[in-house]
Amino acid sequence: MKPKYYITTPIYYVNDAPHIGHTYTEIAADALARWKRMQGYDVMFLTGTDEHGMKIASSAADFSRTPQEHVDINCQKFIDAWERMEISYDDFIRTTQKRHKNTIQYIFSRLHEKGDIYKGTYSGWYCKPCESYWTDFQLQDKKTCPDCARQVEKIEEEAYFFALSKYQDKLLKYINANPDLIRPQSRRNEVIKFVESGLKDFNVSRTNFTWGIQVPFDTKHVIYVWFDALINYISAIGYPDDKDKFGKWWPADAHLMGKEIVRFHAVIWPAILMALDLPLPKIIFGHGWWTVEGQKMSKSKGNVVDPMKLADEFGLDAVRYFLMREVPFGADGDFSRSSLISRYNSDLANDLGNLVSRTLTMIDKYFGGKVPEASKMTDSNPDAIFSELIIETPKKYSEAMDNILLSEALSFVWGLISFANSYIEQKAPWALAKRGKTQELANVMVNLFEALRLVSVLICQFMPAPSKEMRGQLGLNKEAVNCDILEKDITVKKGSPMFPRLAK
Ligand code: MSP
Repeated sequence: MKPKYYITTPIYYVNDAPHIGHTYTEIAADALARWKRMQGYDVMFLTGTDEHGMKIASSAADFSRTPQEHVDINCQKFIDAWERMEISYDDFIRTTQKRHKNTIQYIFSRLHEKGDIYKGTYSGWYCKPCESYWTDFQLQDKKTCPDCARQVEKIEEEAYFFALSKYQDKLLKYINANPDLIRPQSRRNEVIKFVESGLKDFNVSRTNFTWGIQVPFDTKHVIYVWFDALINYISAIGYPDDKDKFGKWWPADAHLMGKEIVRFHAVIWPAILMALDLPLPKIIFGHGWWTVEGQKMSKSKGNVVDPMKLADEFGLDAVRYFLMREVPFGADGDFSRSSLISRYNSDLANDLGNLVSRTLTMIDKYFGGKVPEASKMTDSNPDAIFSELIIETPKKYSEAMDNILLSEALSFVWGLISFANSYIEQKAPWALAKRGKTQELANVMVNLFEALRLVSVLICQFMPAPSKEMRGQLGLNKEAVNCDILEKDITVKKGSPMFPRLAK
């Protein structure tokens, strides 16, 4: 039996089209899913859309659409974007689907029977645009939302509460006993502090709008959108009815998300799972946020970056590579056209594109396009260093990928590429050819070829199409992509230059 790997992205609000922030999580999850498939895992990569709540209902009203029409139209934008971005998800869940609604209502009733959901009165402040509830303490005498600075309104209403406080100690114990659960470390520390400061029961139903899943036994209430949304991770894999499917995939191996929603995933979600007596996910990873030219991305500023337009202008691979390489996964990043162009030109056009073209030109020129046989490698530098790098790079890459250190994984690949470029200068193959040192020349070509073969395997999770193109030019099988498959009698087929330079 193959080992399994279950990875998820957040489900996105469908009040608008996807932007570069959503695309970031999606590409990261895609790279990991592809990597695990390559390693022989049976992978479930889940993504989807979060379609309920007051914000979505009011955005539908702005367009004079019914909420359902509105979410159908906007959900399609996500589906189209992920197709354009070559996202290899296995399932796409929408919270308006029947499979999801059934699970939510089942869980709500079950936790109510158990006493973990109970009826009470909610009193506090509400920010309509953010759908956030605030306490007096949080507002600190102001009457504006701490997130968006807009006016908040006082509300008092009957609501159902989830007994979060009951799980405080158990959760803290679990987080402390599992140091790798919440990543990176800085987010873990924030969560621990938050839990230690005391968890309060919170309201999980609303009566001030109707666009949501009804509380099954009290239909004037709809279920709070975050309670509804988090459960997608188990409704999609058949909980509670499809025991085989659920048993196969749960617990999730990795939940990826942006840093601002780590608290929902690392506190509320585990508590819901504990209430259901289900195991907790293995990794909760909160990545950083992208600003645009130093500014927070927002519609009002008009600086929202559309990933589709970006891919049309610079090529999909420039976008995928830039987002994954530019900042360590977990840290914040800044997007600008100039940094995308320089990253592309230096890493892809100069370093990799040139290496492919120089190596294939030399194999063509000196060996008629046939990859020569190596003799026993010399153990003098730089050959020894190169051989060592060829062995070590896939190992380091693999370890980084398994720890969701995506930019680091790529930096190991680029370490190999840079070394290969400097190796050409040091070995000066043209001089070896002149002096008739054919065997040494063959060794140099074999080293370079082997480095490129590995690179074609290690970039394929990040840039699937260029990896294929590169393998075609190297004369390798385009489908059997694996570090360990060594092919024989290879003839290279140099094609048009890969990654042509972008104009500034
Ligand atoms: N619907 C909730 C998630 C529910 S998951 C059970 C939600 N949706 S969202 O559409 O607002 O955001 C989805 C993801 O996009 C979040 O992980 C968020 O961090 C990410 N990003 C939104 N803007 C971003 C940037 N500017 N930069 C990086 N990621 C950002 O929250």
